[in-house]
Amino acid sequence: MRLVNVNYLKEGAVLARPVMNAMCQVLLQAGVKLTSSYISRLQDYGCEVVFIEDERLADVEIQPAISTPTRELAHKTLKQITGYIGTGRDNALPIDQVRTAVEEMIEDLLNSRDIVGNLTEIQVYDEYTFQHSINTTVLALILALAAGYSESRLLELGMGVLMHDVGKIKVPDEILNKTAPLTPDEFDQIKKHTIYGYEILRKNRDFSLLSTHVAFQHQEKWDGSGYPRGLKGTEIHEYGRITAVADVFEALTSRRVYRPAFQPYKAFEYLMANSGTHFEPKIVDSFTKNVAIYPTGSGVRLSNGLRGNVVKQNQSFPSRPFVRALYEENSPLLAPIDLNLAEHPSLMIVKVENE
Ligand SMILES: [Fe+2]
Repeated sequence: MRLVNVNYLKEGAVLARPVMNAMCQVLLQAGVKLTSSYISRLQDYGCEVVFIEDERLADVEIQPAISTPTRELAHKTLKQITGYIGTGRDNALPIDQVRTAVEEMIEDLLNSRDIVGNLTEIQVYDEYTFQHSINTTVLALILALAAGYSESRLLELGMGVLMHDVGKIKVPDEILNKTAPLTPDEFDQIKKHTIYGYEILRKNRDFSLLSTHVAFQHQEKWDGSGYPRGLKGTEIHEYGRITAVADVFEALTSRRVYRPAFQPYKAFEYLMANSGTHFEPKIVDSFTKNVAIYPTGSGVRLSNGLRGNVVKQNQSFPSRPFVRALYEENSPLLAPIDLNLAEHPSLMIVKVENE
């Protein structure tokens, strides 16, 4: 299978993985043959890429970071929490369920300790989504696993990250969803979601104080230019420093109303450009070593003119995956060429083209 941008989909292509909505419900099953009306519906839904069957890439396996049932449980939990806060039950949140959801996420990740080739399920775009919190938690847990966190610290961090944006429930929707530039006053209101979140979570005794600080500190920046308190360096708890990196990467690689999603390698460039200012260098460094820069299935062009798809991640070198070349410029090769880019240091990926 390979990743194809919806704008390049052709009639008759067969979906290799299901397309889900933000509620984790399947909209189109794997195996569906795409018609022009399905394709235009996918475009209308704001779906960016889908996995398509390709017999030249039949052996490519894509393992999602977490299973669909785990994702569903996390989603259901966040939805319930929103209901509790919306009805004034801030101090009686179902923390046990948050714990169970994060335990499931950790277990899934421990079972796929390798570099995760694909972080997210293929989903249609949804304005009001909990998927951002779920994906940010997955990324933060990957970083924490790489740092050798114990199971109890993984849980403490993960619970905080899953809940890091709960304070947004107290910010008016018209500000959160505004597409025009924010006024200074509106931006001040957005900034308050960190304090609101901290205050809500603090009312729940079963929620660890360090977990509440993820909500409080995830917008702080390494150089002190963040909010709400302008903390600097190690004044920010490590949980907050990890979440800051995961949060920004997730936001950049997701579609927004005002812009399409960044390709992961572009989001990596952003992290690296802001390492040492917004982000702790050690964490950015770990990110580039533990998260797939070119998701499995991506179409890539190499510096020697060969074009093909990423077929496997390189566990020790995520920026240099295994690529199967299928074309030389625009001419199909007689036989595909499998390349381990880690063994070809002079070959570069010069473009990602999910066509
Ligand atoms: Fe946030």
